[in-house]
Order: sequence, then C-alpha cells, then structure tokens
Amino acid sequence: MEKTLVLVKPDGVQRGLIGEVIMRLERRGLRLVAAKFMNVSRELAETHYSIHKGKPFYDGLINYITSAPVMAMVWEGNNAIAAVRQTMGSTKPVEAAPGSIRHDFGLEVGRNITHASDSVENGVKEVELWFQAQEIVSWQREIDHWIFE
Ligand code: RTP
Ligand code: MG
Repeated sequence: MEKTLVLVKPDGVQRGLIGEVIMRLERRGLRLVAAKFMNVSRELAETHYSIHKGKPFYDGLINYITSAPVMAMVWEGNNAIAAVRQTMGSTKPVEAAPGSIRHDFGLEVGRNITHASDSVENGVKEVELWFQAQEIVSWQREIDHWIFE
C-alpha cells in the first residue's frame, strides 16, 4: 500500500490547522501510521528540499520550514500519493482547487500550509528520511474493507 509523508508546515501549526489537516485525511479514508511533532534541523530541511537547491526560493524555503515546529506524519492507502496531493491542492494556493486545503486556507506559495510526497518513489525516500522503521505502526482498521476495495 502506498505511503506518503505529510507535513503540516510551520504556518499550518501556528494557525492551528493540524487538526483540520488530520480530519480531512482521516475522513478521506487514509490510514495514519506515524506522527511526530518536531523542530526541523537545517540538515533535515536541506536534505528534504535538496531538489530545490539553487532555485531563487530555496533559502526562503529552508528558513520557512525550520522557523517553528512542524507536524510530520505518514499516511497510507491505495493511491495515497495522488489522493493526498489532491486533498492538499496545487502548490500555489491561488491555483489550488476549491475545497482543497491550500485553497481553503492559503494565499501564498511560500505559506502553503502542508507538504505531501509527489511520487511513490519519493514517498518511500521521504518516509525513510523523516521516520525510523520502528516509528511506523502497521495496523488494520475494522472499517478498512469498506474503504479499500
Ligand atoms: P511540497 O514539496 O512542499 O509539498 O510542495 P509542492 O510539491 O507542491 O511544491 P514543490 O515544487 O516541491 O516546492 C516546494 C515548496 O517550495 C515552495 N515554493 N516556493 N516562490 C516559489 O515560486 C516557490 N515555489 C515553490 C513552496 O512552499 C512549495 O511548497
Ligand atoms: Mg514537492
């Protein structure tokens, strides 16, 4: 089953949106398998966003993600990558679909509330980067067969 790394970024935490993000993912049917509330070191931020190194927004992005605590989580489900990206909405909040988190709560690309892995491959890499194997909880829910076909 696909796993995706979800972060409620510092702006989402400061604005009291952790519960909102969790509620939407739970309601969608995704299954939470790991969570921790943490400060992000510069080293972790730079590894996580290494693909953006050299871009004009890179320094601002590293400062933003390390500026205050984040809520880091792993969610799983069939098609979890696509489903969670859809629930988050497009990177730029003004381009995000109505009803998505970034549309409903955001205005600016540099304050876009959440992160979610963008491919199955990056999901695996990011979960490994942010969580140790023993922090991932494998479990089943009674309702799983009403959500997963
Ligand atoms: P994320 O990785 O945070 O889930 O966001 P994403 O896939 O939707 O977007 P990505 O292209 O990976 O960009 C990572 C984060 O960098 C900031 N950004 N700023 N000023 C800009 O043009 C710009 N472009 C990207 C955003 O915070 C974006 O989420
Ligand atoms: Mg990205």
